[in-house]
Amino acid sequence: MKTLLTKDQLDEGVSRLAWETQQYYKGKPLTILGVLTGSIMLVADLVRRVNLPITIGFVTASSYRGTATTPGQLTIKLDGMPEIKDRHVLVVDDIFDTGHTMSKLLVELKKHNPATLRTMTLLRKHGRKEVAMEPDHVGFEIPNEFVVGYGLDYQDLFRNLPYLGALEEHEIKG
Ligand code: IMP
Ligand code: MG
Repeated sequence: MKTLLTKDQLDEGVSRLAWETQQYYKGKPLTILGVLTGSIMLVADLVRRVNLPITIGFVTASSYRGTATTPGQLTIKLDGMPEIKDRHVLVVDDIFDTGHTMSKLLVELKKHNPATLRTMTLLRKHGRKEVAMEPDHVGFEIPNEFVVGYGLDYQDLFRNLPYLGALEEHEIKG
């Protein structure tokens, strides 16, 4: 597996995202809403670098992928989410690929009437977008490759890698 972003590069990107967050919200109370499971590393590293009154919650989005590159049926679960009515909400996900996950999530979250609703992804895959929206904060723009590590998985493995790796064609089934 080749390394796409080293631990140090990820670290620098997360610091940048933390700085952007702090500048944007300027002392306002903020709810960070992580998208399970891929966002866990980013959420954990981000919140420790943002000096704001933060509450943290999680929602679940899973697309049961037929293959690594074809998104399948998308399921969103909001049970267990904290109250977001009148809150400033920042949704945090691992990667913006086609954008369907983030886009559908926003539709669902808006129904709960947050004061503001913005989005952050660690990664944005180049040339794959199929929706009208763009994430508000992006850590890194990456080429169209299948990546794992720092929260991202292939068949539920590799999430624990401290760096971001790209799987070679022959390492991906289907
Ligand atoms: P989207 O709905 O196509 O934007 O896909 C977003 C979700 O697909 C992410 O939250 C990831 O779980 C997954 N995903 C997309 N690309 C990759 C990848 O390269 N590696 C691992 N997971 C990915
Ligand atoms: Mg995900």
